[in-house]
Amino acid sequence: MRSYIEESNFFKGINPEDIASKYGTPTYVYNEETIRKCMREVANVITKYPYRANYSMKANSNLTILKMALEEGLNADAMSEGEMRLLIKAGFPSDRIFFVPNNVDKSELQFAIDHDIMVSLDSLDQLDLFGSLNPGGKCSVRINPGVGAGHHEKVVTAGKKTKFGVAEEDVDKIFEIAKKHNLKIAEINQHVGSQYLDPEPFLQAVENFLRIADKFDDLEYIDFGGGYGIPYHKLDDEARFDMASFTERFTALLDVYVEKHKDNIPLFKSEPGRYCVAEGGVILGRVHATKQNAGKKYAGTDIGMNVLARPTLYDSYHDIEVLHNGKAVSRDTLEEVSVTGNICESGDLLCKERPLAHIETGDLVCVLDAGAYGYSMSSSYNTRPRAAEVLITKDGKDKLIRRRETYDDLFALFVE
Ligand code: LLP
Repeated sequence: MRSYIEESNFFKGINPEDIASKYGTPTYVYNEETIRKCMREVANVITKYPYRANYSMKANSNLTILKMALEEGLNADAMSEGEMRLLIKAGFPSDRIFFVPNNVDKSELQFAIDHDIMVSLDSLDQLDLFGSLNPGGKCSVRINPGVGAGHHEKVVTAGKKTKFGVAEEDVDKIFEIAKKHNLKIAEINQHVGSQYLDPEPFLQAVENFLRIADKFDDLEYIDFGGGYGIPYHKLDDEARFDMASFTERFTALLDVYVEKHKDNIPLFKSEPGRYCVAEGGVILGRVHATKQNAGKKYAGTDIGMNVLARPTLYDSYHDIEVLHNGKAVSRDTLEEVSVTGNICESGDLLCKERPLAHIETGDLVCVLDAGAYGYSMSSSYNTRPRAAEVLITKDGKDKLIRRRETYDDLFALFVE
């Protein structure tokens, strides 16, 4: 692909330079149509049986985007009291929120109980705590299906090497604790990991998980977690996650379960985060300096690891487009360059020695697929205010959906 932002008309005819001069840089820019389209896609992964996708808001918790998920008919999952509070603020009714925490104190569990929000318990200890707070109540238990998947070991959340879920061999203990507190285990949930394009490990986990599900009576919900991957190497025409064949294989596994539980078919659920929002977001940043160090070219931008942590944290790859006067620079001739931020660490790199279109001081760079785990993982490291977020609406207007942090915001918490 020559240019994703031009071929997809990401900015809907608005010159990115106009966005940069109106809102400054770095700025996260989202395309409403793309986000809604991806949300609709995940909503329809299973159509043969009762099914509901929960938007996993940790990927992007902007209030406007949460409202889009609500409008597109998605439920949502939350990892913390803060996320539950934000979903309530966005208008999600309690029966469309699922709280999937791990290692929380009783006040967070109590918040969910007081608000009638279904909770998943990630360990026997947390199940016991929940039972003591809410005897006679209903809940979900997170099971470790024994198989994990993901783009980096730090995001594999099932299998033998993670902190997550209750192991299959402890399932009987779940029943003991449930009995002690008269709890109804109405749901079980899993999450194998994040960003897989090969569905094989996920489908294997589903098979294991459904076998474990057979041990539970009268489940009302079975939640398979999230993790569908997106093509981060778009400019090299990487293939997309094959949803159609995934749906077919996933449905075939559900057929087997449903055949055995015809009289009590649960609502099947998933928790996609990244797939909903990653491709609908980019970061616009300015190149403030270019130089050669020991024969290598560096382009220094204002998109530091404080703005996008993924490359530093997981060595994640994000495509980068170079814009000169707001137009994508031709990729017919490429030159090797390391694109860096403005943070005082050598790991502050968006890419290392990558062949990119020619970059000059004063150009804009556009980091693709930044809508998920971008802003939500950003920080004010080096006392830099967090970026602004702008939405390109369906009708082609630019709209500020989170203002840039100010120095006053940053200093407001000090107590002298
Ligand atoms: N459900 C649970 C319980 C999760 O822990 C996660 C992600 C999801 C759903 C959504 O997964 P997704 O569909 O977005 O892959 N910061 C990392 C990703 C961490 C994901 C953690 N859990 C990254 O930037 O790649």
